[in-house]
Amino acid sequence: MTPLAPSGDETPGVKGPIVTLDGPAGSGKSTTAREVARRLGFRHLDSGALYRALTLALLESDVPAGEWADLDEQAMRALDVTVTAKGTELEVGVGGRVVNSELRSKEVTAQVAYLASLPVARACLLNLQRAAGAQGRLVADGRDMGTVVFPHADVKIYLVAELGERARRRLREGGMEEPSEEEVVTHSGVIAERDRHDSEREHSPLRKPEEAELIDTTRLSFDEQVEAIIRLVQEAEQRE
Ligand code: CDP
Repeated sequence: MTPLAPSGDETPGVKGPIVTLDGPAGSGKSTTAREVARRLGFRHLDSGALYRALTLALLESDVPAGEWADLDEQAMRALDVTVTAKGTELEVGVGGRVVNSELRSKEVTAQVAYLASLPVARACLLNLQRAAGAQGRLVADGRDMGTVVFPHADVKIYLVAELGERARRRLREGGMEEPSEEEVVTHSGVIAERDRHDSEREHSPLRKPEEAELIDTTRLSFDEQVEAIIRLVQEAEQRE
C-alpha cells in the first residue's frame, strides 16, 4: 500500500464533506471522530497521532530534545512519518512500520506539546494532513483542523468538557475504573498544563474556529455526542 503523497493546497469541498473536530485534551475528539467517521463511511484523521509519531521518531533518533528546534524541514521529513489509506482507515507509520499504542507512551505524551509548538514540525506535517482530505469524506480531529489545516471545511465542531471530567476520562482510558478525587486533581494539573501549552503557543494555537459549533460533552453520553455531530453533517449535506 503506497503512503499518501503530500498534496499542495487544500481543494475546498470538491468531492465530499470535510468535518473538523478541534478541542482540548480529553474532550473526546479522537474517539468521537473515529465513530462519526465509521458511521458515515468517511476516513478519520487523528492529527494528534501524527504529532505523536514525529515525537516518537525523534525520541528514537539520536537528536536530543534540546536540538529539535534546530532541525530543518528536510531533516524532519527524513524521519519518515507517513499516512497510508487502507479503505477508510488511515494508518500512521514511522520509518516503514505501523505505529499505534506506542504513540501514547508517557515519554511521547511528555514531549509532544513541545514538538507541536515548533513551526518546522507543523510545516512538515501540514501537507500530509491535507493529502488525507484531498478526496473529501474526512473527519479530522486535532487542535487546528478548522483554523489552519482545513479552513474551508464543511462542518466545524469545537468539543469541550470540564477539566475534572476530562482528567477522569483519561484516567479511565488508562485502566483506572474509579479514580479517586486526589488522582483526578493531580491529573487535571497535567492536562491543564498541556492545554496551556497548546493555547498559548505562537503557531497554530488551540482556539475555537469562529464558525464552529461548540459542543460541551461534560454531561453528554458518547452516543449523544456522536449523534449530534452526525446531525450537523447531514444538515450540511442537505444544504449543498
Ligand atoms: O488525545 P489528546 O487530546 O491527549 O492529544 P492528541 O490529539 O494525541 O495530541 C497530542 C498533542 O499534539 C497535543 O497536545 C498538541 O500539542 C499536538 N497537536 C497539535 O498541536 N495540533 C494538532 N492538530 C493535533 C495535536
